[in-house]
Amino acid sequence: MKKLLDMLTEEMQKAFEAAGYDGALGRVTVSNRPDLCEYQCNGAMAGAKQYKKAPIMIANEVAEKLADSKVFKEAAAVAPGFLNLKVTKEFLLDYVKGMKADAKFGLDMPAQPKKIIIDYGGPNVAKALHVGHLRSAIIGESVKRIARYVGHEVISDIHLGDWGQPMGLIIHELELRYPDLPYFDESYTGEYPTEPPFTIAELEEIYPTASGKSKEDAEYKEKAMEATFKLQSGVRGHRALWNHIISVSVADLKRNYANLNVEFDLWKGESDAHDAIPGMVQYMKDEGYAYVSDGALVVDVKEETDTKEIPPCMILKSDGASLYNTTDLATIQLRMEEYQPDKLIYLTDKRQDLYFEQIFRCAKKTKLVKPETELLHIGFGTMNGKDGKPYKTRQGGVPRLENLIAEINEEMLRKIKENGETKGYHVDEEEAAKTAKIVGLAAIKYGDLSNQPAKDYVFDIDRFTSFEGDTGPYILYTIVRIKSILAKYKEQGGDLEAAQLQAVQNESEKALVMELTKFNSVMEAAYEESAPNKICAYIYDLANEFNRFYHETPILVEADEAKKAGWVALLELTRDILESCIDVLGFGAPERM
Ligand code: ARG
Repeated sequence: MKKLLDMLTEEMQKAFEAAGYDGALGRVTVSNRPDLCEYQCNGAMAGAKQYKKAPIMIANEVAEKLADSKVFKEAAAVAPGFLNLKVTKEFLLDYVKGMKADAKFGLDMPAQPKKIIIDYGGPNVAKALHVGHLRSAIIGESVKRIARYVGHEVISDIHLGDWGQPMGLIIHELELRYPDLPYFDESYTGEYPTEPPFTIAELEEIYPTASGKSKEDAEYKEKAMEATFKLQSGVRGHRALWNHIISVSVADLKRNYANLNVEFDLWKGESDAHDAIPGMVQYMKDEGYAYVSDGALVVDVKEETDTKEIPPCMILKSDGASLYNTTDLATIQLRMEEYQPDKLIYLTDKRQDLYFEQIFRCAKKTKLVKPETELLHIGFGTMNGKDGKPYKTRQGGVPRLENLIAEINEEMLRKIKENGETKGYHVDEEEAAKTAKIVGLAAIKYGDLSNQPAKDYVFDIDRFTSFEGDTGPYILYTIVRIKSILAKYKEQGGDLEAAQLQAVQNESEKALVMELTKFNSVMEAAYEESAPNKICAYIYDLANEFNRFYHETPILVEADEAKKAGWVALLELTRDILESCIDVLGFGAPERM
């Protein structure tokens, strides 16, 4: 379906042309004075110069041409030359009927769907997930779902940090603790045990311990590097032990991400790029892209138009070791070979902005990707505490993700019980706990996604869990309210399936309908600009318009059955749009709350 504003613009363009002016002047926008009109066109102001005429004269002539428009009920030329517009009920009704009949509410699918790989999450194995990983997971999941919803093919890859120095540290520490394990016996030729010799809890304790030791003890560090080297060169016992580290860690990660409603198609990691590195390095040398500078192998990526210094992209360190860069470049090469994507999207903290600029330039220059392959890095800001500094636990440490979620759920449960008590109904303990989980997730995700990704934001449990204001729980509360009205309608003997939209009756209903019609353009903009925050802003406005309509309209006591059914149909559309929106944001609504 065409976007509503485009249809209004077309009607306006015809009027400009009929009055003898350039049609391009007829762009219609949503009114910035909703007290005066619904939409507006400022084309007469822009045309004044071109036609050497007072804008109000142009506006008057155009308005005249709209006198019997089927689209505009009112087109008023007002000083100094604006066109204030109101649309007809019939036009709006037609439009929402079209939306209701369409599975995607009037959103057109792309003529040429893209294949997109999105790289987010990026946890490091054997390390507990902490709040730093939260934003990548939340925003990445939503960007993925939006891209899918608008019709692209999207493959998500978690890109585990599962290779390199941290692995050597863990293996070395394990060797010190359990020297008798067969993994360390180089003469051992039998099968290795299938059960891992450690638990996730031990693994999470080992890494910081080993990392701490290596900073103080040069010999320890040396040994850990040796273990890394053995792992990477394929020593059997080291590989077997590493496989245990991965499987224990991945099982734990899967559980954590499932709690966050985050899903990955691919569970690949840095290790998967390992074998591709030597070939890629050779290629970069052979083609003359890479050269030795101060002993290191680098590719220049600066461009003439740069306004700041972009340092060369390092491919190999002077000791010949590969880096984070090398892994990412080799991963790009593999992704291009295996999936031929049109677009690659990465989510990390914005402190990696320059890093990805270098990587992307290097990938283009060395032709690892096609000239037309889109490369996008979405760098996000920091999640701060109320003191404006990066969020910490009360004890001052970086909080584990699990604890943070538990904290939100607890507060949510308290509020749900309190809400039940003040409204005087019995709250079932078990159901309340389940609901608290669903609503808690919405509180966290909406609290994050309602900000522009690049901005820092304050993690405020009190505000995020509130049932009022621009919050996840408020949106869910609105959805639950709609569901309950629909359920009552059914109890009264109403037929939900048969309910048909009717002509718009009152002002608050019209405002709700106009808000609904923005859906396709909001969803498209959210995709184009990688901006889930646009969807949050939209559903907040939509929930507000719905609640205003609901408070002004006694729906279920309406005597005119057709009218009542019309409202019910409008409620269904509102519910479906809200639910589709929260689904692309990555959370769902409970049945009751
Ligand atoms: N594991 C990395 C980190 O913790 C994030 C990985 C992001 N993805 C990428 N392809 N570099 O910082």
